[in-house]
Amino acid sequence: MLTGKRILLILSGGIAAFKCHDLIRRLRERGASVRCVLTPAAARFVTPLSLQALSEDKVYSDLFSLTDESEMGHINLSREADLLVVAPASANILARMAQGLADDLATTVLLATDKAVLVAPAMNVRMWLHPATRANVATLRSRGVAFVGPNEGAMACNEFGPGRMSEPLEIVAAIEAYFTGRLPAAEPPPLISGPSVIRMPPEPMGGAIAHRPLMSRRAIVTSGPTREAIDPVRYISNHSSGKQGHAIAGALAALGAEVTLVTGPVGVADPAGVKVVRVESADDMLAACRAALPADIVVCAAAVADWKVRNAANGKLKKVPGAAPPALELVPNPDILASLAASGPQRPALVVGFAAETENVVANAVAKRERKGCDWIVANDVSPATGTFGGDRNTVHLVTASGVEAWPTLAKDAVAEELARRVVRHFGTSGVVAAS
Ligand code: CTP
Repeated sequence: MLTGKRILLILSGGIAAFKCHDLIRRLRERGASVRCVLTPAAARFVTPLSLQALSEDKVYSDLFSLTDESEMGHINLSREADLLVVAPASANILARMAQGLADDLATTVLLATDKAVLVAPAMNVRMWLHPATRANVATLRSRGVAFVGPNEGAMACNEFGPGRMSEPLEIVAAIEAYFTGRLPAAEPPPLISGPSVIRMPPEPMGGAIAHRPLMSRRAIVTSGPTREAIDPVRYISNHSSGKQGHAIAGALAALGAEVTLVTGPVGVADPAGVKVVRVESADDMLAACRAALPADIVVCAAAVADWKVRNAANGKLKKVPGAAPPALELVPNPDILASLAASGPQRPALVVGFAAETENVVANAVAKRERKGCDWIVANDVSPATGTFGGDRNTVHLVTASGVEAWPTLAKDAVAEELARRVVRHFGTSGVVAAS
């Protein structure tokens, strides 16, 4: 969607600047080219070298560099861009933009440009809520500058509130919205009164809905393996890494859904912006999912152990010299997906399962969709040769009531993002559930 688009990324000072490495990567994955301009403060948080390596382009920071001006005047930096993105945008750069100052390369480019500007603010909550910043934001919006974020959450300064820079995928979604004409016209934000206000209204800036189409939706995602105890020190489990389930939780959250991620033990990091509930056994996973209801969307990506040990021992099983090893009697675990997909007042509107198959992938997945009563099945081949378990890529088929779609081999993140886009399409912008 961003193929051939040229993004001029202007970084101002702030700890959130480190997220720009990921932002550049995501933009380039989508075919955009990225050229970076740094303020002097930004250069204290990220190095020009790292940005240059990721963007594969020269990084600009000095207004008075003779070399830069002879090779690429500051006016050309803007001319050769389709969109200017300021991320992170500190309170300081917002103030300088609002005042029309041009005291470094970044603000000079911003003052000289006739291109659209998208801003991703990042600052301390009190700076964001300060009347001066509110007024600057209102001024910029009235001039057509678009905003994405900031998000609410814990901050590096140990405070909580609005001021966290949007996640890279949210910024990417806003950029895509700009190029597809879905970025709405700017309108003044509500002004916050009184210095003691810490929390912003849930929808602080116009336009957030367009970037967060799942804003009013609740989602539950299961991920990772389960562990079924044999005794307090041993268990039955599987090789699931949790990468795919975690990526789906992150992708749904990036589009605005309120996500509860119920996960077995995994080594991957918690995705941003989701509530994480850690469990061990299938019984615990089911209980945690039920506790998270009601939800609009359920995605069961966990590799739930099919069996558990009947009467797991309370103490460690000891070897008895000369005696036969203990026989483990297995009993079936509850089927979490089938249980959540069963009809009833709490059945989520969209229930998505995975099918981990080693042979007859599509045929088994089609049958599994029927058997489990879910709406969609994402079928993947987990035979060892594919490297799906634990790997970073996945080749899936999406099985719905209307048929089977083969997707190309994609990074697990990309599978997650595509699935999240399908979820948005399924629900439509009106909030009415579309037939699948
Ligand atoms: N699943 C679940 N609870 C279980 C077993 C599976 O929620 N006890 C879910 C998985 O999260 C996945 C789907 O069911 O979304 C299919 O899992 P899979 O392991 O492919 O299928 P099984 O149910 O184990 O069936 P089979 O053994 O026949 O492949």
